[in-house]
Amino acid sequence: DRMSKDAQAEFETCGECAARLHHWVEQHKKYTSEGKCAEYIPALRYANQEALGVCIIGYDGEIIKGGEADIVFTMQSISKVISFMTVCMARGISYTLERTDVEPTGDPYNSIMRLELKKPARPFNPMINAGAITVASFLPGGTKEEKFAALLDTLEKLLGRRPTVNEKVYTSEKKTAHYNFALAHFLKAGGYLECEVEDAIEIYLKQCAIEVTVEDLAKIGLVLACDGFHPLTNKRLLPLEIARLTKAVMLTCGMYNASGKFAAFVGAPSKSGVSGGIMTAVPPRQHKATPFHNGCGIGVYSPAIDEAGNSAAGVKLLQHISTKWELSVF
Ligand code: DON
Repeated sequence: DRMSKDAQAEFETCGECAARLHHWVEQHKKYTSEGKCAEYIPALRYANQEALGVCIIGYDGEIIKGGEADIVFTMQSISKVISFMTVCMARGISYTLERTDVEPTGDPYNSIMRLELKKPARPFNPMINAGAITVASFLPGGTKEEKFAALLDTLEKLLGRRPTVNEKVYTSEKKTAHYNFALAHFLKAGGYLECEVEDAIEIYLKQCAIEVTVEDLAKIGLVLACDGFHPLTNKRLLPLEIARLTKAVMLTCGMYNASGKFAAFVGAPSKSGVSGGIMTAVPPRQHKATPFHNGCGIGVYSPAIDEAGNSAAGVKLLQHISTKWELSVF
């Protein structure tokens, strides 16, 4: 048997997955003290520093939650996944990849350095801010309103509802978005924006301020886990090759300069945001005895983030669940 000792033990004791999850959340709350709420976006600093919530949705629609699972928070960088998929669907994969590569950087998410080091300065990947601002500008539509609506259309398909923007988070970030404006000006100068700098930043910051719950993130994660197919409605929501490409980018770049360690110790395509959310897609696995072996989506929220910008307790909790339930794709 190829199952690890940990997973074997878990299988033998896992009568009640929801109870287990609840227990693990309680055990991992202490790690919230290893992070700090993002302060550079003024509205984020008022989040409850000690909160930790999780939701897992499986292939058959089974859903379990733990901790503070009802908190509404903004997507922040998790929205980069949605805009990337939207641009790939509207304009094609090769068109999109001509404008942003899919190579990890090992740099912080807002780094400007590489836009100067290489000419032409094509952003390294769509998960760092430079790539995401470029992608936002290439959303389909002739105006910023149409472009943003295109992104909401994708989210509406995935969530079954049209999400809204937290205007307070949006305006508070816009006032302090100096790095992002600087990135956008470099990108504009290099020919990597389809619209004006102001519009690209408005679309990008609005997408970051879209409100979701851990259940929403789990839903999207599940569709990605199932290669773009929604197992509950039997509908294909994303083309297979775009779902696959997106998962590869999430695995290699989704947790910023901690993506390598996350791949090593959690091993499932994931995307984090500075508000403390993490969206994970767990593809089907071989170990038929472990829970959710047909694949699942996971949403985690805990607003205290580490130096890389990832939820401190969220990463620890995912690592624990992954070890116990064999979530790694490797
Ligand atoms: O542009 C920013 O800085 C934020 N709106 C989003 C960055 C982010 O979520 C990075 N994540 N960990």
